[in-house]
Amino acid sequence: MNISTTTNDPWRCTADMQVYFVHDSLQTRLPKAVLSQIEKVRQAGDFPSCQEGTLSFYPESEQGCAASRVLVIGLGKGNLNGETFRAAGGRIAQKVKKIKAAKIVAALPEELEYPAQEMSQYIVEGLILGNYQFSKYKTVEEDDEPHNLISELIIAASDVQGEIAAAMKRGLIGAESACQARDMANEPGNHWTAEDFAVYARKLAAEFDMPCKILGKSELRKLKMGGLLGVNQGTTAPPRLIMLEYRTGRQVPALMLVGKGLTFDSGGISLKPSAGMQDMKYDMCGGAAVLAVMAALGRERPDNVDVVAVVPATDNMPGPGALKPGDILRQYNGKTIEIISTDAEGRLILADALSYGIKRFKPEVVIDLATLTGAVIVGLGHHTTGLMSNDDDLVQRLCRAGEQSAEPVWRLPLGKDYSKQLKSLTADLKNVGDKGAGTITAGAFLQEFITDTKWAHLDIAGTAWNFTEKSYVPPKGPSGVGVRLLLELIREWQP
Ligand code: BES
Ligand code: MN
Ligand code: ZN
Repeated sequence: MNISTTTNDPWRCTADMQVYFVHDSLQTRLPKAVLSQIEKVRQAGDFPSCQEGTLSFYPESEQGCAASRVLVIGLGKGNLNGETFRAAGGRIAQKVKKIKAAKIVAALPEELEYPAQEMSQYIVEGLILGNYQFSKYKTVEEDDEPHNLISELIIAASDVQGEIAAAMKRGLIGAESACQARDMANEPGNHWTAEDFAVYARKLAAEFDMPCKILGKSELRKLKMGGLLGVNQGTTAPPRLIMLEYRTGRQVPALMLVGKGLTFDSGGISLKPSAGMQDMKYDMCGGAAVLAVMAALGRERPDNVDVVAVVPATDNMPGPGALKPGDILRQYNGKTIEIISTDAEGRLILADALSYGIKRFKPEVVIDLATLTGAVIVGLGHHTTGLMSNDDDLVQRLCRAGEQSAEPVWRLPLGKDYSKQLKSLTADLKNVGDKGAGTITAGAFLQEFITDTKWAHLDIAGTAWNFTEKSYVPPKGPSGVGVRLLLELIREWQP
């Protein structure tokens, strides 16, 4: 999307649609024609008392408007926050899907008591996220309704052009990166394999000049990554361990991001029920989010952090060589695992990626993102990401970033009572913990592969798709969750 700013009077700006925002308390700077429309609607007892209120009209030629359409977005009566503007941006995009307006001018409501840069960032963010569409595999029929999208956004403001432009750029990068994660997730399992992840990472590496290392089956064998290789046994698609680095010249990276890149989870021999199994193409959303964050860093080029990404990628299939319940495998760090369920595969591939990544990069902080357990949906629904960690300060920063990005996280406990549930009769650990707390025992399993590094685990199984519906988050399909959350954390990082 093209974004820019102007100091011109928005009413005189040519566009397919002009957008104005109105808060119940103040609207003095709006054009007369807009005010009189609002007044009419008010007299009828409607908008804008209601926060969801929008009003659109087609101005008369004598009113001198340079656009054929005007949209007024109600911001309600209450306190303003980032989410008010993000949601407003999303509402613009939803409106445009029903009309033909590609070029939008939005008048920033500078009279409101809210920083203009933040308004701009969040409007752009919501608008781009709401404008998202995945139609790659749809054959367009001639008589189909056209589905309109926005291609250009101009924000009209009187002041701080430079800062507003920079803020808009932040919004753009965060939202476009999240949309890239959604694109990867929307690709079906037959078009998004471990090798497709590798190709994507290599493309980022070339575009942003990032070091990139991809390990294939023979290298994984040499390194004895029994977890990733074990899960891969039942499929014909070769596994990949993808490593991509954003470096500023520091010796030690501040942050290592690990994302579960399970391109399709059939459950393996512990086969999942067929109803809903198609959604298991989304089991790579952690890996997608991690690579999308790297793309954002490549564009934004922050100098406060070095970040490395590690994505273990494979599908989980019940082919002839597949892992079986009762099998025992040996992870990269030497620990032996008794397989109880081949459907608890995410932790096996993450365990190798975590211990290998920590050994190779020696990061200060590790964060992993994974669609790891159905149990997290039981506990937190589709609204909040599950968080487990060995570091209180990291938890606080993630919670803050979650609030700021409207991708909330909630901490669950870890501890020896949960870890004990993973004791096996015959091996060091079993891959499923008995007696409940399925999300926590999965976290406790991963904890066995973290030495004394600060670490947080995000279980995004409930939020990566079918996330809480918002004007800028589709009710069905991938949300891109984690991308803006991690980007917010990185932007606030103190070196
Ligand atoms: N990818 C799934 C987790 C999942 C389930 C995500 C439902 C989204 C919706 C994971 O690999 C899995 O199958 N987990 C099992 C673990 C169990 C066998 C201990 C689960 O949650 O049922
Ligand atoms: Mn599974
Ligand atoms: Zn899975």
